[in-house]
Amino acid sequence: PISTVPISTAPAALLPNIRVPAPTPRRYLLCEPRHFEVQYSINPWMREDTPVDTARAGRQWEALVSAYREHGHTVETVAPVPGLPDMVFAANSALVVGGRVFGSYFQAPQRRPESAEYETWFKAAGYDVYRPESLCEGEGDLVPAGRHILAGTGFRTTREAHAEVQEFFGVPTIGLQLVDPYFYHLDTALFVLDEGETTTEETAATQGTPATGGANAATGRANIAYYPDAFSPGSRAVLRRLFPDAVIASRDDAMAFGLNSVSDGRHVFIAPGAVGLIDQLTHRGYVPVPVDLSEFHKAGGGIKCCTQEIR
Ligand code: ARG
Repeated sequence: PISTVPISTAPAALLPNIRVPAPTPRRYLLCEPRHFEVQYSINPWMREDTPVDTARAGRQWEALVSAYREHGHTVETVAPVPGLPDMVFAANSALVVGGRVFGSYFQAPQRRPESAEYETWFKAAGYDVYRPESLCEGEGDLVPAGRHILAGTGFRTTREAHAEVQEFFGVPTIGLQLVDPYFYHLDTALFVLDEGETTTEETAATQGTPATGGANAATGRANIAYYPDAFSPGSRAVLRRLFPDAVIASRDDAMAFGLNSVSDGRHVFIAPGAVGLIDQLTHRGYVPVPVDLSEFHKAGGGIKCCTQEIR
């Protein structure tokens, strides 16, 4: 059953029949930025040896953890490892759906050792970990959205990995071509606002429990926000077809890491600089919760990059 709340804070004329679902409690895995630095450059945001204010990064990260907990979510942490400065970007370590863990195989040699560290955490937590044969950077490029898994390629995760993901989860996996180096991971250009309904068979396939809410009550399907110019023309057409009601973000909002957001179905943990997007989400009935991770932007990451969701 989906509980919905009517929107009462905006003029009714602006909100024809829009209702947003109740938030659902989530389980997140994060990595404290004790060893976070920008030592090497593997995306256009990174400049070698950019000074990072570690204390400030720590405070920003604590604020994110607090925001999740205050909204009823569970936060767990993996121990940071010296010499793995990007390990703070927990999202890249795996995709977890229905308790099944599809691990990572990083493109950059500097990040490859992170996979084993996360694998150790998952195993200790009682999960088996599948090791992909093809380059694959977890939730950085793999985004479950209702009946599909959206899968980015172009910079990191390969098309071969998309096939492996589909075979592993048995969920239709939609390849999306990324074309702008500033948006090198799918999760920098797109995020899921609410997850919609999955079918019984699909739920069984991923060994999950039946969806309890999280559906877009107006349409019954998942909804997303994205920046169209980050995608090839064909991929843009696919997104329009699958998500006709999507929230379309501007380049400014995308460059402010506004699409590297985390939503629990109602609250959207979002970079405060994405002012246009914050405004649009509010008008759609979502509740933006701004969290500033500007120190992490120096490495090309934001809120979502720091957050692995254990589904
Ligand atoms: N410096 C990291 C890299 O380039 C940032 C990763 C950001 N993570 C993400 N999910 N987009 O690999």
